[in-house]
Amino acid sequence: MSWKNVFFYKVVKTVKIPDLRIGLLHRFFQFAIVVYIFIEIFTKSLYLKTEPLIPGAVRISLKTPDNIDTPSYCNGSISCIFWDVNEIQYPPDGAGVAFFTTSATITNYPNRLGCNPLKASSQQDPCFFKPNNNVTILPKSFIAGIENYNIMVEHSVRGKTTAIALRNGLMDGELVSFNGTTIRKMTNATRMVENPNADGDIFSIQEILTAAGVNLNSPSTAPGADKVAGETYRSSGIVIIIIIEYQNVPLKTGQLSYKYLPQAIDGSEYKSVEKIYNTTDNSITLVDRHGIRLVFQQHGTIGEFQFIALLTNLVASFALFKLNELLAILILIIMTKLHPQKEVYKSIICDVVGGHQEEDIKN
Ligand SMILES: *[C@@H]1O[C@H](CO)[C@@H](O)[C@H](O)[C@H]1NC(C)=O
Ligand SMILES: *[C@@H]1O[C@H](CO)[C@@H](O)[C@H](O)[C@H]1NC(C)=O
Ligand SMILES: *[C@@H]1O[C@H](CO)[C@@H](O)[C@H](O)[C@H]1NC(C)=O
Ligand SMILES: *[C@@H]1O[C@H](CO)[C@@H](O)[C@H](O)[C@H]1NC(C)=O
Ligand SMILES: *[C@@H]1O[C@H](CO)[C@@H](O)[C@H](O)[C@H]1NC(C)=O
Repeated sequence: MSWKNVFFYKVVKTVKIPDLRIGLLHRFFQFAIVVYIFIEIFTKSLYLKTEPLIPGAVRISLKTPDNIDTPSYCNGSISCIFWDVNEIQYPPDGAGVAFFTTSATITNYPNRLGCNPLKASSQQDPCFFKPNNNVTILPKSFIAGIENYNIMVEHSVRGKTTAIALRNGLMDGELVSFNGTTIRKMTNATRMVENPNADGDIFSIQEILTAAGVNLNSPSTAPGADKVAGETYRSSGIVIIIIIEYQNVPLKTGQLSYKYLPQAIDGSEYKSVEKIYNTTDNSITLVDRHGIRLVFQQHGTIGEFQFIALLTNLVASFALFKLNELLAILILIIMTKLHPQKEVYKSIICDVVGGHQEEDIKN
């Protein structure tokens, strides 16, 4: 008998159990899996062919407010000066990064010897630059009303394999605070209200500072800050990193939205020194600026609807139906161990044709 066993043809026999509770349990699990698959596909946009985005240009420009009142911090030991955007933004080209002066000192180093310090032949050369001779042109001063200046941010992205190439004027945006709350939403309509000719998003510097969790009047935590004198962020400067995160608008082809996610770096400071060389009298003027450094970083994954992507993800998701096999084991245990009619079910499930019951069960 045993060698003939090899040539037996085996067929899976289906048993229909007319038990409403078990049937409902089974259908419920199947339904839950299908619902889960659809939620997964729509919330994770699995119908998109995605790719990391390619950052375009981020341009940041500054605009002077119409009217600057003298703020209260100008009445302290450090006085204020009123500067125009051309002096505040340094360097003037804001591509991806921007630096806005909040305090400045200007010192001139006259050259009494009349020689060019750039051509000193040794450190002992009397022409070698020494900071000892100096004339203070502007003692340390704060820039009045810096919080009220407006910045405009324009940015763009494109994809490589997808045909997406968009500027932010065509997308909806959101300014999100460091703690995750939405501060402001930007759409074409809100941009038109602010300035019909604006290409980008307009914020006041105060708005960015609030979103990044910074108060310029609070004491700086930077290691180089003068803690005894209570040096503030206005005097030491600060770095704020703003991530621009892009994503597809759900169920809308070729449309993107973005979020600005600003965050200040605790304990940072920022300084930039502008050097002006006077070729007439060979003197050097240094403009020592501390201020707000904004660093924009474009980030995200974008995609386009693609039928194959949908199909691939759908097929992959349907592998979840394997879970049904786990369920089948569960139902089997319920039927043969816990159910009131377990003896009946046992005899139905282990059905053997033509004797040799024990041997066949083993197989
Ligand atoms: C600052 O002082 C000036 C005069 O010294 C005064 O007119 C002004 O109101 C003061 N501003 C604040 C905000 O205290
Ligand atoms: C100006 O010169 C004095 C000495 O004459 C020096 O102590 C000081 O550090 C110099 N200031 C700057 C800003 O270089
Ligand atoms: C934005 O709105 C203006 C005025 O309502 C309209 O003329 C313009 O076409 C809109 N732009 C976009 C990109 O929707
Ligand atoms: C988040 O920060 C904003 C301002 O930055 C503040 O108004 C809001 O109350 C904060 N929310 C929470 C939950 O801390
Ligand atoms: C350069 O120095 C000369 C002579 O001191 C002065 O007249 C001129 O204004 C200076 N130029 C600048 C740009 O500071």
